[in-house]
Amino acid sequence: MRLTDDERRMRDGEQGEAVAAAMDLLIRYGEVLGAERLVDTDNVCGANIFGPRQMQLCGHAGPDAVFSEFSLDSPEPVEIPPMRAQSYQLIGPMDTQHWQVQGLSQEAHDAIEESESYSARHGIHLMNTCTPYQVGNVPVKGEHCAWMESSAVVYVNSVLGARTNVEGRESAAAAMLTGKIPYWGYHLAENRFGSHLVEVAEPVRDSLDWGLLGYYVGEQVQEGVPVLDGIAEVPNLVKLKHFGAAAASSGGVEMYHIPGTTVEARSVEEAFGPRRPLQTLRYGERERRLTYEQLNSTAQDTDVDLVMIGCPHATLSQIRDVCRLVEGRKVHPDSALWVFTPRAIRQVAEQNGYARILRDAGALLMSDTCPAIGQFLPKGTRVIATDSAKQVHYLPAIMKVQGWFGSTEECVQSALTGRWQGELR
Ligand code: F3S
Repeated sequence: MRLTDDERRMRDGEQGEAVAAAMDLLIRYGEVLGAERLVDTDNVCGANIFGPRQMQLCGHAGPDAVFSEFSLDSPEPVEIPPMRAQSYQLIGPMDTQHWQVQGLSQEAHDAIEESESYSARHGIHLMNTCTPYQVGNVPVKGEHCAWMESSAVVYVNSVLGARTNVEGRESAAAAMLTGKIPYWGYHLAENRFGSHLVEVAEPVRDSLDWGLLGYYVGEQVQEGVPVLDGIAEVPNLVKLKHFGAAAASSGGVEMYHIPGTTVEARSVEEAFGPRRPLQTLRYGERERRLTYEQLNSTAQDTDVDLVMIGCPHATLSQIRDVCRLVEGRKVHPDSALWVFTPRAIRQVAEQNGYARILRDAGALLMSDTCPAIGQFLPKGTRVIATDSAKQVHYLPAIMKVQGWFGSTEECVQSALTGRWQGELR
């Protein structure tokens, strides 16, 4: 790999052991990928909040040792300096308000809190969400980023035209310390053209429809770059958030084009550039129904223990929509309604009275984490319902529960009645 003088000096330890370890990691990683060089980045989203398990595995040797081991792949503890690049914490393990509801011990709470303040002292912005793009980190077209979190990567690549691959914890941490990332994959213009044409012959209206379409497309194209033709209405952030998260769950989609909507494709021709489609797929009534059945294949029991809204983390508009459905009503005593959102949006939801409406209905507005990442559910939960194709893809597998997938309205109704009555309309 070709290195600049600055990169060579970092590798050789001029800026300390941690930066040298980070540079060494990036060089090894880049060489495996066939990257010829590194590229500068000043926008890194990673995950460096640790709990008691990691502390224990490092023999309680302190947060520098934990960061070295788990974020830098360096078994020898090194002193971690402030981050060089603008750095952001993605989702974490704990809601600082509702950690007891999550079932966390005081010890776990204290360890995570300590890890958060360590991150903050090192210049990592505590956004604590899988949707940094809705709370202030909005990269621009062409900006080289280094982000973890597949649902966020597919959003910023496709909708905003920023450039990132799906990074891992270690490569993102190394990018935070050096401001560099291997120049390969979606950093290169030639890899961003479409690979598959998807003719959408079914109306795609609400976020349920966008989740179904995303799940279908991801499964079909896997790591390809789908181009959607036939979308009649301009989708908003919520719909694109659901689409991308679903496509990145059933497959490994990191980039897509919707001609006329996403920034790198004014037309189908521009989306494909010099490439020809490898395959043309048709999404019609049959594909929609089969995808719906697949997403609901783990559920049989209609008594719903938990309804989860906010995967990826809910926007303020989604919170308002839930409020309109629950205002003046109560969540069924045998069920629970949890809505997940970034910490910053929960603050606004408090100011707007939405958080109070949810509390009065017996629902919880949670932040910073989610059941799939934090691995927590109300005690005894057997059946969940969610409006997220991503969450219903992962949660039944991770937590051994049944999962219903439906519209936001159907999910909220099931929390109010305790029973699932969703169907494909
Ligand atoms: Fe976010 Fe958790 Fe879903 S990280 S995208 S809410 S699985």
